[in-house]
Amino acid sequence: MPLIVAIDGPSGVGKTTASKLVARELNLPHIDTGAMYRAIGLAATRAGVAVRDAQALEELALRSDIEFIPGDPPRVLLDGEDVTREIRTPDISMAASHVSAVPAVRRILVRKQQELGRRNGGVLEGRDIGTKVFPETPYKFFLDASPEVRAHRRHAELSAKGETVAFETVLADSVQRDKQDSTRADSPLMHDETYTVIDTSSLTIPEVVDAIVKSVRERES
Ligand code: C5P
Repeated sequence: MPLIVAIDGPSGVGKTTASKLVARELNLPHIDTGAMYRAIGLAATRAGVAVRDAQALEELALRSDIEFIPGDPPRVLLDGEDVTREIRTPDISMAASHVSAVPAVRRILVRKQQELGRRNGGVLEGRDIGTKVFPETPYKFFLDASPEVRAHRRHAELSAKGETVAFETVLADSVQRDKQDSTRADSPLMHDETYTVIDTSSLTIPEVVDAIVKSVRERES
């Protein structure tokens, strides 16, 4: 199997920034699996499908063509339309979290993620990469940080994009999304002893990247 690095963790922990740099260092594609759940969240919102209607969501996921194209920046296509920017709003974050609790949606997207990873290897970031998508990889990292630190990062990210959202709203959304993601029946956000846990609260991005790359290289050689 090609080299697979799994990077899981809650929202706003810095997974995307770190994963992108790890992928660059290791010369692997960066695969952001959250973007695929976001695309289904967007499709559901546009089609007026209730995020709790499992049957309708399964049908939607089956007929939606979602393509994730690794690159810098990576792009997400929904039925051929580039939705890379549209999927990054707070509303779509929440919609993604709802639709991702539907087992049929997960089954369809996990299959796509496995196909992508098997093609050229990759640094895959998400919530269930080391538990469900590629449980056999020895390279599993769980990034963590306190809810406040994560909400601060998310808030700064949104502000940088010109979006004015109150910090309290970002914190409340983040706490709710993490609760949903950790308590769902299918593939909840979790880690076990096969993971290396990295608390990123007091680490810089280069330090996080360095820790992951070193750990992979040490065991690869
Ligand atoms: O990582 P990101 O915040 O973009 O993910 C959006 C949502 O997609 C998460 O809140 C989570 O509910 C879901 N997700 C998932 N499994 C993954 C990646 C994301 O359930 N592997």
